[in-house]
Amino acid sequence: CGIIGHIGTGNALETLLTGLENLEYRGYDSAGIAVQNGSGIAVQKRSGKVDELKNSIGDRHIEGNVGIGHTRWSTHGPPTDENAHPHTDDTADVAVVHNGIIENYADLKSWLRERGHEFTSDTDTEVIPHLIQYYLDAGMANEAAFRRAIDELEGSYAVTAMLDGEHVLYAARQGSPLVVGVEDDEFFLASDVPAFLEYTDTVVYLEDGDVAIVDEDGVEFTDLAGESITREPETVEWDPEQAGKGEYDHFMLKEIYEQPTSLAQAIEGRIDPENGRIALEDFPSGTFEGVGNVQLIACGTSYHAALYGSLALNQAGIRATALLANEYSVTAPPVDDETLVIAVTQSGETADTLNALRQATAAGADTLTVTNVVGSTAAREADDTLFIRAGPEIGVAATKTFSSQAVMLTLLAQRIAADTCGEPPADLTSLLPDLSRMPAQLESMLVTDDAARIADRYRDSQSYFFIGRGLGYPVALEGALKFKEITYEHAEGFASGELKHGPLALVTPNTPVFAVFTGDEDEKTLKNAEEAQTRGAPVIAICPDDHRAVEVADRHIAIPATDSELAGLFANVQLQLVSYHAANQLDRPIDKPRNLAKSVTVE
Ligand code: G6P
Repeated sequence: CGIIGHIGTGNALETLLTGLENLEYRGYDSAGIAVQNGSGIAVQKRSGKVDELKNSIGDRHIEGNVGIGHTRWSTHGPPTDENAHPHTDDTADVAVVHNGIIENYADLKSWLRERGHEFTSDTDTEVIPHLIQYYLDAGMANEAAFRRAIDELEGSYAVTAMLDGEHVLYAARQGSPLVVGVEDDEFFLASDVPAFLEYTDTVVYLEDGDVAIVDEDGVEFTDLAGESITREPETVEWDPEQAGKGEYDHFMLKEIYEQPTSLAQAIEGRIDPENGRIALEDFPSGTFEGVGNVQLIACGTSYHAALYGSLALNQAGIRATALLANEYSVTAPPVDDETLVIAVTQSGETADTLNALRQATAAGADTLTVTNVVGSTAAREADDTLFIRAGPEIGVAATKTFSSQAVMLTLLAQRIAADTCGEPPADLTSLLPDLSRMPAQLESMLVTDDAARIADRYRDSQSYFFIGRGLGYPVALEGALKFKEITYEHAEGFASGELKHGPLALVTPNTPVFAVFTGDEDEKTLKNAEEAQTRGAPVIAICPDDHRAVEVADRHIAIPATDSELAGLFANVQLQLVSYHAANQLDRPIDKPRNLAKSVTVE
């Protein structure tokens, strides 16, 4: 989602709309603005693109020098006019825009309802203006009411609020970015610098726990308790054209580097590592009690995530099969009363997957979709939905959505196993703490340059092979798919043990073999890699630094030591980077590979 706010000398409306357009590269599904109009706060919001918001404003007279705006990418509730931001309290005296997830919104909502507040949207955000209003009604001054409301929020947020009758913007940050832009007596607030880059390049970043109060005279930074703090202005040196990708040359690279954040969002509020509990909203304990077998249907990268999920289910003791959605119409396994069909689809719009989902529904299966897009066709048609919350993905080659799909399917596997076996599988005490460490470990891994060096070392090879066993197998398939998609070089993925049953005939000194080690019978995988090495192929091991494969392999790309259910996901991120750097050396159009589309809506 994107936030923009403006206080200045002219009419805020134009700046807000420009800011929203600047943020639209992220692929939003609804937008809105709120402006102090002299006689109250005027709010206009619409589902769809910013153009639709503009058309809806039409001749409506909205004028004032203080305003906020938002482009929404749904996480709670479909993209409707009502769910678009800004949100207000009952009397529209408080308007709020918000990015992030308020974990305790359900509790806050029922608490406010008991006190007479009425809600008009499905969003978590709407509790914020109501909370502020509650404290105003209780006699607090504006600033105190804002601080008190923010103090009640759990989860992640970047919040900007505006209260009727004063020319002030209040902002608070916890886990979701916010930045102030300053140009003489014009002040901007945004989730990303590109929102206001044509107006100023002088910015001040808020840090977690900061509150900023912006009026016509300047900006004051405090902590949540109101203690003054200093935040230094910086100058950004970005070309506005490039700004949509931030500091990155391609969306794909940006999205690879977003994975610490997208994974943190995926698991936020869903795992309790200390008590070994998984809490998936909408799926209370016991939901999956009657599930005896699972079919996962998907295409492309999502199929590899589905395969990963099916193996995790099998390892947790549940019968599960991953099937290509485009094959399902002719090869669907029988469905019975105990069958759960899970459609895995980033976009929720892939025709092959939707058809398979409809076929499963017609056959009487219970259906669930694991998707990134709220309001998508798959989300609307399946019985239930689990959102991966990866944020918009622009690069055609899927990256961060694969990681979030695989993690959510891993959690789902544990939940299904717990529900059907009556008790949680034993390994949760290792998996959940490792999962909660994963965003920080990924962050550290992403500053290393192993992948770039390997891409450079093996450029101009004839073919690239990827092998893995167990949970490393879908990672090998995905590594090869990513590589061929964006480099146009020949790449294949194999189960490690299959190499000797045919593909070994292709192995030469000019075919590097990437071997993924996940802790699933690594000794055997190492032996398979050596079989290729004996035929002259260079072997690149993807494993922790202290792994035995490091001594044997020609080269090594490091991943952190972690639970075997997660190791493959770190390896996958390294392989995404290998593909990216190899494609970049070849000067390929990385974000839009030839002949491919992000979402394929034909069979
Ligand atoms: C297209 C894309 C792939 C993607 C596949 C499935 O082929 O190019 O990157 O994996 O569709 O997309 P979905 O939205 O269903 O995950």
